[in-house]
Amino acid sequence: MMPNAAAAGIEAIRRDPNFPRLKSMVIDATGLAYYADKDAAFAERINRRLPFGSIATVGGYLAALEAEGPAGAEYQGLINELAVGETFFFRYIEQFDALRAVAIPECLRRNQSSRLLRIWSAGCSIGPEAYTLEILLKQHFASQLDGWQVHIVGTDINGAFLEQARRGAYGDWAVRGLSPETLDACFDRQDKLWSVKPKYRQWTSFMPFNLVDGSIPSYPHGIGHFDIILCRNVMIYFDEATRHRLLGNLHKALADGGWLVVGHAEAGPQMNELFIPVSVPGATLYRKQAEPAAPAMADRGTPPRPAAAPAPLLKSRRAAAPAPDAAPDPALRPAPRARKVTPAATPPAAPTPPDTAETNERSTVLEACLARVEANRLDPGAHYQLGLVEEELGVGDPVAAFKRALYLDPRFVLADYHLALAYWRRGRLVPAQRHFRNAREALEIRPDDEAVAEGGGLTVQELRGMLDLWLTGEEG
Ligand SMILES: C[S@@+](CC[C@H](N)C(=O)[O-])C[C@H]1O[C@@H](n2cnc3c(N)ncnc32)[C@H](O)[C@@H]1O
Repeated sequence: MMPNAAAAGIEAIRRDPNFPRLKSMVIDATGLAYYADKDAAFAERINRRLPFGSIATVGGYLAALEAEGPAGAEYQGLINELAVGETFFFRYIEQFDALRAVAIPECLRRNQSSRLLRIWSAGCSIGPEAYTLEILLKQHFASQLDGWQVHIVGTDINGAFLEQARRGAYGDWAVRGLSPETLDACFDRQDKLWSVKPKYRQWTSFMPFNLVDGSIPSYPHGIGHFDIILCRNVMIYFDEATRHRLLGNLHKALADGGWLVVGHAEAGPQMNELFIPVSVPGATLYRKQAEPAAPAMADRGTPPRPAAAPAPLLKSRRAAAPAPDAAPDPALRPAPRARKVTPAATPPAAPTPPDTAETNERSTVLEACLARVEANRLDPGAHYQLGLVEEELGVGDPVAAFKRALYLDPRFVLADYHLALAYWRRGRLVPAQRHFRNAREALEIRPDDEAVAEGGGLTVQELRGMLDLWLTGEEG
């Protein structure tokens, strides 16, 4: 189709009276509320699918999808168009470091008698997260895992992503940032692709699974009783209610004492209601409470209290911006104290009620931010930082804090970006869209490699890519 004809087709789809129903049906089936305020991007995806067979109208398309349901071939084809699959090997390396330092050793101790380790990469896209786990386990725990049964299952709603995951061969983008040594150790070069070495593909398998449709745990699918679940950069595309439901389901799908890892931007206050946050430098893992009936095991299995690192939040104003599927620099987030975690090797401390300790720490961080604002009322960075902390803790008025930062410095592009995210999380899609657009426009004439202010090394080009993803659904 010629570009003008395509644009006219997309516009006609947007204006079709059946368009809103089609969109809400697909969002219900996939959880992808991300498209709620992205009519143009959604219509463009529909346009790619039309004409579908003999059907060339939105009403006909809607009826066909309704008739076949989300498992049908055309529905799947549409989902393949809609899902955002950005991923790469060792993404957020600090989370893998945390698994290696804390969670995996704990699982090995806890499962010593069963010799079974089960890990789920939920929303695995084309598979790097799952293979990264196998590489990590084989490189660091090979001897301890000798004689164990290890299962790493990657699931996704997108069948095309899963096919590539099973092939295990990737272009340069998926392995970006890996050292030549890691590339050499983990991949075979085949044509222009990086193919995961067979020895790192023995424990990993992939299968389709819709995280918002049907029950979890789903024992017929082998989804349940996991020691570790990674569900990163998936919930960010869902609305609050879906995210809440999914978190409850992931909690049920974990073994007692099991560990959950989410994307940095996905850790909201409700995480702390269900899980015990365990802070390690650079990352927070979330742990399901171990069975109360087995306190001795749980205590033995609990990691030593890692050095929580709330200080950088207060010392530094540099914050990395989250991608739609990324987050503020974790080092800058208040690391909530690991509640109810008893360090195995420390003498019993004066019994502080855990909730009080956590509350104290939160209020210390918050108070420090407020004090900084008080002392530097005209410093946009102070207001911005307060906004980040308030958003993270679910207190105060982060929207107002980001607005103040922008008022003081209208060119403060990350304040625009975080204001947009804050609006988005509150379902305020119109102002969210406006601030994403403002941020995007502000970056238009800036050099690609310029560092974004307060971005912790984030470049203009990287932030543009993130914004494009939000604005158009297209990866840069
Ligand atoms: C941005 S990728 C994240 C990949 C990987 N977890 C990471 O962090 O690198 C998001 C993935 O979630 C998947 N997804 C979206 N909605 C889903 C759903 N309802 N059920 C299962 N997977 C879903 C998408 O297909 C996509 O592959």
